[in-house]
Amino acid sequence: MRIPLIAGNWKMHKTVAEARDLAEGVLRGLGELQSREVVICPPFTALHALSSLIKDTPLGLGAQDVFSEPHGAYTGAISALMLRDLGCHYVIIGHSERRQIFGEDDALVNRKMHAALSHGLRTILCVGETLEQREAGQADRVVVGQVTAGLAGIEAARLSHVVIAYEPIWAIGTGKTATPADAQQMHATIRATLVELYDMSHADQLRIQYGGSVKPENIDGLMAQPDIDGALVGGASLTAHSFLRLVHFQ
Ligand code: PGA
Repeated sequence: MRIPLIAGNWKMHKTVAEARDLAEGVLRGLGELQSREVVICPPFTALHALSSLIKDTPLGLGAQDVFSEPHGAYTGAISALMLRDLGCHYVIIGHSERRQIFGEDDALVNRKMHAALSHGLRTILCVGETLEQREAGQADRVVVGQVTAGLAGIEAARLSHVVIAYEPIWAIGTGKTATPADAQQMHATIRATLVELYDMSHADQLRIQYGGSVKPENIDGLMAQPDIDGALVGGASLTAHSFLRLVHFQ
């Protein structure tokens, strides 16, 4: 039984005061969460404030990135140790914006995975193809490659702390979503890759989220697919009203 995970990726939005307001709004509307897990990923600057706010509530806290080293001369970087210290449960790793804008490659993504997991964080490993790659018929190869590289050297025993988010880059922030059928197909491909890399039972337990313009209007169809186990949400996680609608999908 895979419990769907709905995670809000706030990206570079919200001051501390705004973050508090949004988190309080989400908490107010969360209600009894049955067979559903909900996480918010504010910017680093709001983690401390939100950590105390959501302590002892069903809402989980995640960061949007982490560096691969525990400490040292890495100006501007934040370590897994520091995120744990702040009370983070999750961290997003390898988001396409990190890969495209900040030049992260699969090798760095993999080192970040190891660092986060070894410090007890749960990881959301993001993968996804560009529009050009999809149109050239390379989407499967690209995504399978990212999954394989991202998980390199990660033992099966650690997989219970891993979530994969399939986010086609052409669907992020564009208003275009993969159809439920197209998304399901890629999720099934990812799960088949996990069977090859590990085994059936680990592949069966690992949650695969969909991300890319998930909105109240399209979430129900996506979540009805057998291999879609939640959503990683950007834009629609920035107001309590729309995020709560997503959390309470049908
Ligand atoms: P979006 O972002 O929902 O705004 O498309 C998703 C993401 O980048 O995680």
